[in-house]
Amino acid sequence: MAVSELDPNQSLDAYWMPFSHNRYFKQDAAHRSNRMLAKAEGSYYWTTEGNRLYDALSGLWCCGLGHRHPRLVEAVKRQLDVLDYATAFQMGTPAVFHLAERIAEQAPAGFEHVFFCNSGSEAVDTALKMALAYHRARGEAHRTRFIGREKGYHGVGFGGISVGGMVANRKMFAAGMLQGVDHLPHTHNLKEMAFSRGEPQWGLHLVEELERLVALHDASTIAAVIVEPMQGSAGVIVPPAGYLKRLREICSKHGILLIFDEVITAFGRMGKPFAAQHYGVSPDLITFAKGVNNGLVPMGGVLATRNMYDTFMAGPAHLVEFFHGYTYSGHALAVAAAHATLDVLADEQIYPRVESLAGVLEECVHSLKGEANIVDIRNCQLAAAVELAPLDGKPGLRALRVFEEALKRGVLFRFTGDIIAMGPTFISSPDELAQMTDVLRQSIHAAG
Ligand SMILES: Cc1ncc(COP(=O)(O)O)c(C=O)c1O
Repeated sequence: MAVSELDPNQSLDAYWMPFSHNRYFKQDAAHRSNRMLAKAEGSYYWTTEGNRLYDALSGLWCCGLGHRHPRLVEAVKRQLDVLDYATAFQMGTPAVFHLAERIAEQAPAGFEHVFFCNSGSEAVDTALKMALAYHRARGEAHRTRFIGREKGYHGVGFGGISVGGMVANRKMFAAGMLQGVDHLPHTHNLKEMAFSRGEPQWGLHLVEELERLVALHDASTIAAVIVEPMQGSAGVIVPPAGYLKRLREICSKHGILLIFDEVITAFGRMGKPFAAQHYGVSPDLITFAKGVNNGLVPMGGVLATRNMYDTFMAGPAHLVEFFHGYTYSGHALAVAAAHATLDVLADEQIYPRVESLAGVLEECVHSLKGEANIVDIRNCQLAAAVELAPLDGKPGLRALRVFEEALKRGVLFRFTGDIIAMGPTFISSPDELAQMTDVLRQSIHAAG
């Protein structure tokens, strides 16, 4: 029996599924109908029942080039024949040095250095550590506070949940939170901005809350502000027009580092290598993961400016400068996949393709306005979300029903709370985006 098939007698008990309703999934075969994936190609998965699913979230925002892109598969296979794992501490490979150079070349001006890790969560922890250590090296060790934002998602490390602003991800772990973290208000306000196309025109004033936090804590205690340029995991919350520019100004005024968490937005989703370029705002540190190698092998990283890097390069040259790194930093397979990803992004002109698909997605999703139970529709380049009115006393249930109805109709959406999120593959056709939208419409009707 192939490993992609499910033995009907197999127990599902041992596997503890991440960020999942384990009991619901395991208790009833009907609940997992079309939810066991067997294979994938391009923009589609196939389930163990043999049904095809359009992947409306590019994996988990990571497979923009589609699944099993032949050039990526080939690159990893070739790498396996030459070098599997290469120790990363005090050693290197030509390929990892070259990859850092290629990523820095695509980054906003001034970003000249790349530190590799294996996930978005690790990238966030790395960036927070860099910020603290940078201030310390410059004689400002008193800058220890971080400012995140409500509804922000920065992964699941203790650093990430501390600066993150998703209640469910925080409350279980309150005892382990970083000290001295504060949060900007989120910018999600249905009354003021529902059904905005692209950047909402309301909400710029909320960024001034940073001045209030500076007045409360004093700038000299604040190391960095971290935000996602577009808040993906909270359900595609798009920054109000001018918000990120103003955030940059306030941070600069007070000597506070600005970190853009670009784990979702980097390498394609925004029609540019980085959201920083889309918004014309340059932070001091950029985290990335997911799209850097199309989700093929876990990889994340942090882009740092020359100034940041140079600040660490003090003391005797034979000593370690930054006591941080992971066994799998710059894993040879991940690096091979990333080189191939950068090649495909360029050769297949993916960035202009995303720019043009973004308009199609906007038209598609906003055509749902007026359907029953939809309270908001949002879009940002090749990302979009439809927010549903919760069922009385049962938040999240309506979106679950829509998700299940869509699976029956051949589309895999992501739902979070009562929000349906979409991040289609960059290789999708306009027709596929239209079909995805039709399935969402039918599924909302069917779910009631
Ligand atoms: C903005 C952002 N930061 C960090 C993460 C965490 O990434 P990972 O799941 O790879 O740890 C995510 C994941 O979706 C994310 O969207």
